Amino acid sequence: MSSSSRGVEAEEDQNASRTRLLVGGISVFLLIGVVAGTAAFFLTEKADEDTQESKRNMSTTMRTVDLFCAPTDYRATCQETLEKTLERSKDPSDQTHAAAAAAITAVGRELGKGFNRSSLLDAVRESNDTLVHEALRDCKMLLDDCAADVTRALDNVANRGVDGPAQDLQAWLSAVITFQGSCVDMFPKGEIRDEIKEIMEKAREISSNAIAIIQQGAALSAMLEIDQGESLTVENVKDAAAAVDDDTQNNPNNDRRLQGRESALVFPSWVPHEDRKLLDAAQEGDGDGEEEHKGGLTPNVTVAKDGSGNFANISGALDAMPQNHSGRYVIYVKEGVYDEQVNITNGMANITLYGDGAKKSIITGSKNVADGVRMWRTATLAVDGDRFMAVKLGIQNTAGDEKQQALALRVKADRAIFFNCRIDGNQDTLFAQAYRQYYRSCIISGTIDFIFGDAAAIFQRCVILVKAPLPGKPAVVTAHGRRDRQQTTGFVLHRTRIVAEERLAETSSTVKTFLARPWKEFSRTIVLESIIDGFVHPQGYMPWEGKDNLGTAFYGEFANVGKGSNVTARQEMKGFHVLDKEKAMQFTVEHFVNGAEWIPETGTPVRLGLFG
Ligand SMILES: *[C@@H]1O[C@H](CO)[C@@H](O)[C@H](O)[C@H]1NC(C)=O
Ligand SMILES: *[C@@H]1O[C@H](CO)[C@@H](O)[C@H](O)[C@H]1NC(C)=O
Ligand SMILES: *[C@@H]1O[C@H](CO)[C@@H](O)[C@H](O)[C@H]1NC(C)=O
Ligand SMILES: *[C@@H]1O[C@H](CO)[C@@H](O)[C@H](O)[C@H]1NC(C)=O
Ligand SMILES: *[C@@H]1O[C@H](CO)[C@@H](O)[C@H](O)[C@H]1NC(C)=O
Ligand SMILES: *[C@@H]1O[C@H](CO)[C@@H](O)[C@H](O)[C@H]1NC(C)=O
Ligand SMILES: *[C@@H]1O[C@H](CO)[C@@H](O)[C@H](O)[C@H]1NC(C)=O
Ligand SMILES: *[C@@H]1O[C@H](CO)[C@@H](O)[C@H](O)[C@H]1NC(C)=O
Ligand SMILES: *[C@@H]1O[C@H](CO)[C@@H](O)[C@H](O)[C@H]1NC(C)=O
Repeated sequence: MSSSSRGVEAEEDQNASRTRLLVGGISVFLLIGVVAGTAAFFLTEKADEDTQESKRNMSTTMRTVDLFCAPTDYRATCQETLEKTLERSKDPSDQTHAAAAAAITAVGRELGKGFNRSSLLDAVRESNDTLVHEALRDCKMLLDDCAADVTRALDNVANRGVDGPAQDLQAWLSAVITFQGSCVDMFPKGEIRDEIKEIMEKAREISSNAIAIIQQGAALSAMLEIDQGESLTVENVKDAAAAVDDDTQNNPNNDRRLQGRESALVFPSWVPHEDRKLLDAAQEGDGDGEEEHKGGLTPNVTVAKDGSGNFANISGALDAMPQNHSGRYVIYVKEGVYDEQVNITNGMANITLYGDGAKKSIITGSKNVADGVRMWRTATLAVDGDRFMAVKLGIQNTAGDEKQQALALRVKADRAIFFNCRIDGNQDTLFAQAYRQYYRSCIISGTIDFIFGDAAAIFQRCVILVKAPLPGKPAVVTAHGRRDRQQTTGFVLHRTRIVAEERLAETSSTVKTFLARPWKEFSRTIVLESIIDGFVHPQGYMPWEGKDNLGTAFYGEFANVGKGSNVTARQEMKGFHVLDKEKAMQFTVEHFVNGAEWIPETGTPVRLGLFG
């Protein structure tokens, strides 16, 4: 499809502007985004006509559908999706709801249609491969998640339009793309996988378009507020953008407000050669006294190994939880080692698990791929319930390096928070699978790809503890799995320290340690205001095994310190960018995961903006 294929070079360029366009709040960045999208579109469309004339005529000649489809990557598909719904004559800004609803409905329709193909179902039925049947079962679960996301997105559009909740809609639709892709990956290579892949490709295109269409709709709504109903032309779009641009530069209100929120926080007292102290402080949560949960936690039930609570294990407490509770349900996990697989299911929203400290209240397990458990089922703690929160807990998988992938934690929950936790494992410790996640003052350890997945996750004031990998293997901190340029996902390490565990420190001359490698094509990892110790390889990033996929990935760094933070040798890696402050701000808690709306209210300390 010609409308869907763009040159690699063009893509690289667009990647940068797309990033800004996607991660920004619904004001400044969107507005600039809409200009980039529409202006570019009209320039190419009308290049051979008299420019002045066509500019003047734009509001009458532009077709509404084209306006909404301008920023999408699959335009022909987009036009097909919107053609029947939108009216040419009507003002586009009156049709942002309709466009979003049509785009999201198309996602739902495509998902349902594809998977019901009789040829596919017959092939699966006839297959003797148990892997195929397991894959089908797991895939169906993910498609249920997709359906739920489509439903909540449509409900939101109906109730609130696209202006306010654009970031929610985009987060959910990004997850739909994640799940579609995982679904394909689950099947063993063969005809069935090929057919699923074909179905899911089409669904991905439509989902990708939906994210872009919502972006455009939100931008139009925002513009409307500024322009007070003036009709839309390239000129007033540009003027509005310029005005807003000026505003951010000359008006530091935004910054001041952010700084006020967390004035008590200074640069952590992390100094070289005091790693032990640092780790202890982060684990106990009593370092400098400011990293305590605010507001206190009152348990609804208590789990205690010694029988002094309501339950002797965590699963017992979850099983007994009232189905229709409203508000937060707080489970206190008293000191002890809990050897059980804990599942916070889809239906369990707003749960808080809190312990006596990451070294005292520990959930442990050792499920692993080498023993025949499917990767995502190996997690010691699996979180699928939205707004989950864990405080002062240890979460570990003790399978060891020889057992391949063995997750300590898997998180597929929107607005999940981990505070003062310790997450320990080796290969693939933390699967940050999808949606928006915030990790604060946590220690996360592992060897290779040990923070992976396709979530939009921020790790703030955390310690990333890199352990020695198997001989001959590299150590890699993150493997982000973004599959589509429109997805609003990525990993952000903010004011975080990347340190080597003792054994690695001793052998670091023979082991190469990288900050990231691209699990999927459009992988994103950003490191802001962090400390990168000297054991990290100067190039910082490596391609995925057997692939040359750094070029489509986005790896950015801003204001890092430490012996491993020199970016000179990084420059030769495709996909690497030194960010300026303005770009870096797009990856803050406030802008990247819309954190102001959901983190402070939980009492978790948070820095919404940059520290510097
Ligand atoms: C602009 O509009 C005028 C009158 O409305 C028309 O005569 C002219 O052909 C239009 N020009 C273009 C480039 O569409
Ligand atoms: C797919 O098949 C299921 C079960 O047969 C059915 O409930 C569902 O409505 C079908 N979906 C579509 C979009 O046809
Ligand atoms: C599956 O097994 C049945 C009976 O064991 C056999 O007749 C059939 O050919 C097998 N199908 C495939 C695709 O191997
Ligand atoms: C929960 O639902 C059950 C039955 O559906 C009802 O009897 C009970 O009162 C409800 N509890 C609360 C707290 O709403
Ligand atoms: C949990 O505890 C809070 C207060 O601590 C209370 O308001 C809420 O009703 C409790 N929920 C349940 C389901 O018991
Ligand atoms: C969870 O909390 C959110 C926000 O406080 C609320 O809108 C939602 O209804 C809650 N869900 C449950 C199941 O309590
Ligand atoms: C949890 O405790 C219950 C009894 O309260 C017991 O039946 C169950 O087997 C325990 N589960 C685990 C995983 O230890
Ligand atoms: C938790 O989920 C895993 C993986 O799906 C499953 O094997 C296990 O039985 C579940 N545990 C409980 C207590 O439900
Ligand atoms: C970074 O590395 C380059 C090349 O090794 C070196 O020339 C430069 O001085 C270093 N910069 C800093 C700030 O250490």
